[in-house]
Amino acid sequence: MRIYLIGYMGCGKSTLGRRLSQYASLKFIDMDHYIEERNHKTIPQIFAEEGEVEFRKKEQKALAELSEFTNVIIATGGGAPCFFNNMELMNKTGKTIYMNIKPEILAGRLLKSKTERPLIKGKSQNELVAFINETLKKRDEFYRQAKYHITEPDLNLDCLLELIENP
Ligand code: S3P
Repeated sequence: MRIYLIGYMGCGKSTLGRRLSQYASLKFIDMDHYIEERNHKTIPQIFAEEGEVEFRKKEQKALAELSEFTNVIIATGGGAPCFFNNMELMNKTGKTIYMNIKPEILAGRLLKSKTERPLIKGKSQNELVAFINETLKKRDEFYRQAKYHITEPDLNLDCLLELIENP
């Protein structure tokens, strides 16, 4: 069993994924944390010192490694499905679940979030909503390739549990 949670920054992949793993007796791995540990640098450090292109290469490498882990729920980085053949690899090696949340809700959550995210650092609420809309337009074609899609108001623990237990 290998589950990939997919979706935009702030959609709840890590929060719900961690809770889901406890109920489903699976391990939980946050891909960003995995990248940080493997590279001995934080995500903001990687972006600042090496740039996004290098970050995407590290992300691809991390995914290739994680795609061999078993009995695991993996919260992927928001951009991970949209580079290289990452989406294809995830669909081949596990159950992909797209957590689809409205841009306004994402913006509200991201403004409150304490996690430092290089792509949106310093953006005002309006700038953030515009950025989310713009990137979602490009990312949508990748996210849509996920096998399962969950949209609010169905995006909760029970719904995710049902999905992984009764596919
Ligand atoms: C990114 C999302 C982040 C992290 C990096 C880039 C993106 O992960 O991988 O800052 O491109 O959307 P979260 O979705 O966990 O915030």
